[in-house]
Amino acid sequence: MSDHVIVAEEELADGERVVVQIEGREICVFNIDDEFFAYANWCAHQAGPACEGNITGTTTACFDEESLEVELAYEKDDQILNCPWHGWEYDVTTGECLSRQKVQLPQYPVKVEDGNVVVSL
Ligand code: FES
Repeated sequence: MSDHVIVAEEELADGERVVVQIEGREICVFNIDDEFFAYANWCAHQAGPACEGNITGTTTACFDEESLEVELAYEKDDQILNCPWHGWEYDVTTGECLSRQKVQLPQYPVKVEDGNVVVSL
């Protein structure tokens, strides 16, 4: 495993991302609430550029069996990555796909070292 400096920490503000090529792989680094996350820019559905999608929240539904009513809630605002090809949703803080258990974006270790954001591959 080798370390790769991606960007100076101060150049990647909260809510921003950067896509880079490392060792033939396209890697995206996100700053979410001043925490950094690194993923392969690859969607588990049909290999689309998942990391280039919008970041939003998501709507969840809760079904009440007694009243037969469904209650909708908008959650995780600014935390859900939407693949631009067909809309699969991923939690950008974990890489987990919201609609498929055990499916997630390939994730890489990321740290801040000497003021730089560093990813290990
Ligand atoms: S390729 Fe990402 S949702 Fe289809």
